Amino acid sequence: MPHLFDPFTLKSITLRNRVGVSPMCQYSSDDGVANDWHLVHLGSRALGGAGLVIAEATAVAPEGRITPGDAGIWADKHVEPLARINRFIKEHGAVAGIQIAHAGRKASAAVPWAGGAHLANDAGGWTTVAPSAVPFGGDQNKVPHALSVDEIKGVQANFVAAAKRSLAAGYEWLELHSAHGYLSHEFLSPLSNQRTDSYGGSFDNRIRFILETTRAVRKVWPENLPFTVRISCTDWAEGGWDIDQSVELARRLKTEGIDLVDCSSGGAVPHAKIPVGPDFQVPFAERIRREADIATAAVGMITEPKQADAIIRSGQADLVLLAREELRDPYWPAHAAKALGHAAAVQPPKQYARAW
Ligand SMILES: Cc1cc2nc3c(=O)[nH]c(=O)nc-3n(C[C@H](O)[C@H](O)[C@H](O)COP(=O)(O)O)c2cc1C
Repeated sequence: MPHLFDPFTLKSITLRNRVGVSPMCQYSSDDGVANDWHLVHLGSRALGGAGLVIAEATAVAPEGRITPGDAGIWADKHVEPLARINRFIKEHGAVAGIQIAHAGRKASAAVPWAGGAHLANDAGGWTTVAPSAVPFGGDQNKVPHALSVDEIKGVQANFVAAAKRSLAAGYEWLELHSAHGYLSHEFLSPLSNQRTDSYGGSFDNRIRFILETTRAVRKVWPENLPFTVRISCTDWAEGGWDIDQSVELARRLKTEGIDLVDCSSGGAVPHAKIPVGPDFQVPFAERIRREADIATAAVGMITEPKQADAIIRSGQADLVLLAREELRDPYWPAHAAKALGHAAAVQPPKQYARAW
């Protein structure tokens, strides 16, 4: 079995190690456009030694932003600022990935440091869309517009256009966001999808949105580049989406050309009871990897070098993704390599060599 600092090859892309930076919204864009914040944020993490740096949930349509500050890729003007960042990431040995996303009924919210509640349409917000006219709840109580079938096709076309722009921006790793209670997950979960047409009801109908979107994106995303999906493996709520359904979905996604499943959880409903703790989502990555025979990424409360290394060595996942720990320490991969006796695996930028 490989270890954390062995390279990982997926399609034509080889990551220098198995540590990835998990996508993290920065809520720092103006009309979706990336800026110096994103260059420094993502660039620092490439310097720190991660093999893969995945850019935050990047909206495929303006109404698909969680907040007015979200990153976007719905217009050509978004491409060059992202390309600048990606050139920097690549120059420093990491692979640049992007998560393309639509926030569905959880869109139109204030940025977290302004409380995160839904914004009224006359206070900087907009009308949200979802599979069904069912609000999320709590302080995100806007009733979404239930998408018509034509409108569903329109959103899928937005994902396709976003994938093309991602390629133009130099990304070499594409992730569809189908987790955390955002639009694609809203189709999967019976708690948010109450449709009675071919997009709701049975398992086959609830997975139709993501399967069709995957199929359409696959046609424009090069066969030789990794194509991945993040799912919430369970809603942690009675009557919701669960790990058995996730395993079956992963099998179907594999036949549509998905190369890796990024295994997160939760986000569908505010009342979920989530047993957060070290490795709490790792068993999902392990089960999907084993039962759907597809590569997986493990994420969530992975903070210690030995812990991350054990996940790879035991074959629970092919890749570990770190979010908050990478915010605390962008040099986590370099520090972990030293701690695990693989110091040479993470080379410093030449400018920093005397301090390494
Ligand atoms: C500031 C912040 C922003 C996040 N934004 C996203 C996002 O854009 N897309 C996503 O799928 N998850 C997002 N997440 C979730 C993380 O990617 C990750 O799954 C989660 O934080 C658990 O990993 P951790 O314990 O290493 O932080 C975000 C988390 C944080 C802390």
